[in-house]
Amino acid sequence: MNILTLETTCDETAAAVVTDRLEVLASVVASQDELHERFGGVVPEIASRAQLERILPVIHQTLEQAGLSLDDLSAVAVANTPGLAGSLLVGLVAAKMLCVAQTIPLIAVNHLQAHIYACRLATWDDVFPCVGLIVSGGHTSLYRCEDPLRFELLGATIDDAAGEAFDKVATMLGLPYPGGPSIQRAAERGNPDAYPFPRALMKDEDRLDFSFSGLKTAVRYTIAGPDRTDFTNIKLTERQVADMAASFQEAVVDCLVDKAFAALRQTGLRVLCVGGGVAANTRLRRRLSEEANRRNVQLHIAPTRLCTDNAVMGAIAVERLRAGLTEDLDLDVYPGVVRTKMPVTAPPGWTRRVR
Ligand code: KG4
Ligand code: ZN
Repeated sequence: MNILTLETTCDETAAAVVTDRLEVLASVVASQDELHERFGGVVPEIASRAQLERILPVIHQTLEQAGLSLDDLSAVAVANTPGLAGSLLVGLVAAKMLCVAQTIPLIAVNHLQAHIYACRLATWDDVFPCVGLIVSGGHTSLYRCEDPLRFELLGATIDDAAGEAFDKVATMLGLPYPGGPSIQRAAERGNPDAYPFPRALMKDEDRLDFSFSGLKTAVRYTIAGPDRTDFTNIKLTERQVADMAASFQEAVVDCLVDKAFAALRQTGLRVLCVGGGVAANTRLRRRLSEEANRRNVQLHIAPTRLCTDNAVMGAIAVERLRAGLTEDLDLDVYPGVVRTKMPVTAPPGWTRRVR
């Protein structure tokens, strides 16, 4: 069985073909980094227009890479939540069109669940039940993942996502977009103890939420003081940039590691899965694996190529297809993360623990 998976939640246009045995026959990712670079972040209107231009060529290229035609497809899966509304719609409409044309089932994929499922793809073992940590440009959240169909939100960022903080701080330091990889590079030459940046909510052990906006402000004040909003005339030395990058990265990593292991303690689970763009960060990967060894926790971090947005992780659709969870053609997009049980609009598989 061949499933075409589409991923257009933000600024990557991606398609893949996976089989029901989780073999990857093709994968194509068209990135828009060059379009958003000068803004220091993703501009939604530009993102959705570029999705529209790229979706059909990307699907075409993916089928060509797999050596398949449309007639060889058994189903089409599409990420319909969460993400930018305009971008999500492009993928959804393309998926519906293919399902109508080929008379094959439509499968809905939750983008965040897919980020966690990227860990499952890198191992022959089952990874469920586990704690899932998703760290990306738009999300930083912890889930109790009972199985590939049941995810319960344990905590999330109350302001910025970790990746967003990486991108914004990189801009302040004059480093190129996307900020995550450039901060990581600069941090290699820096001292992580040089600046005592804050670790928000870490003392509140029961709480599994994150907050990165105070950290971002602390970097800003360190660079320019509280009254300046413009950084253009501030010249930082290479050492200052490296030390600030390393100190900022260490503060983010401290918070992520601390809360992930707090979630394991609170849930009693012994498996941790980590996905999303920021999971590509080498310092985070090293710290997680040291901590997992120390605490005898089974750790699965998505392979670097499956951390940033891609359609291969949409292979979670195989689990939904196996469970008979296909969608009607009136399926909609859900841009926000659904936090409560909402019978009509909630994407399947999402519940929020009432606190
Ligand atoms: O998962 P993703 O591709 O998109 C979203 O779903 O948001 O994540 C993109 C984010 C960006 O903020 C980028 O700066 C960050 O992941 N990122 C990194 C690294 N590589 C990408 N952050 C830290 N270290 C990295 N090596
Ligand atoms: Zn993502």
